[in-house]
Amino acid sequence: MTPQFLHLIREDLERTERLLREHGTGEHPAIAFAVDHLLGSGGKRLRPALVFLSAHLCGADLERATFAAAGVEMLHTATLVHDDLIDGSLMRRGVETLNARWSPAATVLTGDFLFARAAYLVAQTESVRLVRRFAETLMVICNGEIHQMFDGRGTVPTFQEYERRIYAKTASMIALSAEAGAILAGADEEVIVALRTYGEQLGLAFQVVDDVLDFVADERTLGKPVGSDLRQGLVTLPVMLFLEENGDHPALRRILSQGPTNEAVRETVQAIVASGAIERSLQVARNYVREAKKALDGFPSSEYRAALLDLADFVVQRQF
Ligand code: IPE
Ligand code: IPE
Ligand code: MG
Ligand code: MG
Repeated sequence: MTPQFLHLIREDLERTERLLREHGTGEHPAIAFAVDHLLGSGGKRLRPALVFLSAHLCGADLERATFAAAGVEMLHTATLVHDDLIDGSLMRRGVETLNARWSPAATVLTGDFLFARAAYLVAQTESVRLVRRFAETLMVICNGEIHQMFDGRGTVPTFQEYERRIYAKTASMIALSAEAGAILAGADEEVIVALRTYGEQLGLAFQVVDDVLDFVADERTLGKPVGSDLRQGLVTLPVMLFLEENGDHPALRRILSQGPTNEAVRETVQAIVASGAIERSLQVARNYVREAKKALDGFPSSEYRAALLDLADFVVQRQF
């Protein structure tokens, strides 16, 4: 991430990075390799940034916030390890995924280790409420992924189903990050709810933009192949909006009825990029961003509130 406000939390993020990269004694070198490989390849650290902005806004203890930030980023990393295995994705953050190098068994076990490490980090905040929210979030994510697996492929969701899916896979963890600082500060219930709402709406916007980037991004900048959603038979918002006006597009129809082929995916991606569906999707993302910002209306103006507002804009402007 390169937005302006990062200087406010630079030291916090550096502390988090050191904690994330710590190696336990007696750990197998394969685990140390995996942690270095995954965390060393980049990532925007959006979730830790949210934890700290929320922590500063509400006056939480920064040492506990660091455990929460590292815990959430580790949870994110673990979900990506399993997600890439499930999706058969060979590239993320511009480098090979673990499953590109290792067997499924080794990849699953390493992911499990990272989930445990994430829980261990969050437990060190000594906040039972945060640990409970952490566990609930992971249940929501897994349940959403199972939905997508059993009911999602090759079908066109309603907008409500789509929203439910992107809430589960992405917005739930971003909401957890945004409310974490408030929870640790022991803030009033309405403050916790406001930050959670901000995170939910921001997370929905974030995933819509992710779905757009899968069509329009530069592959090198994105660090993962474009067009992969369609190639997996996953119908996202740009496709849904394209279908409203091009219900009989032959290549897309073929993908939906017979499954994706390289040729049909290439043709459909081109047609969608050239259509108004991308701009209409971004409009949906901007509406979520507006709702996210509105959730912060009740906070007095401060540099941290301003930073959260900036971060919301960054989410729709991002190129990766
Ligand atoms: C990737 O998340 C998975 C989604 C939820 C779309 P990010 O885009 O936050 O991934 P990194 O951590 O910056 O690589
Ligand atoms: C990643 O979902 C988010 C989760 C692990 C829940 P996707 O499969 O849609 O995202 P990418 O494209 O691999 O980052
Ligand atoms: Mg997936
Ligand atoms: Mg994936």
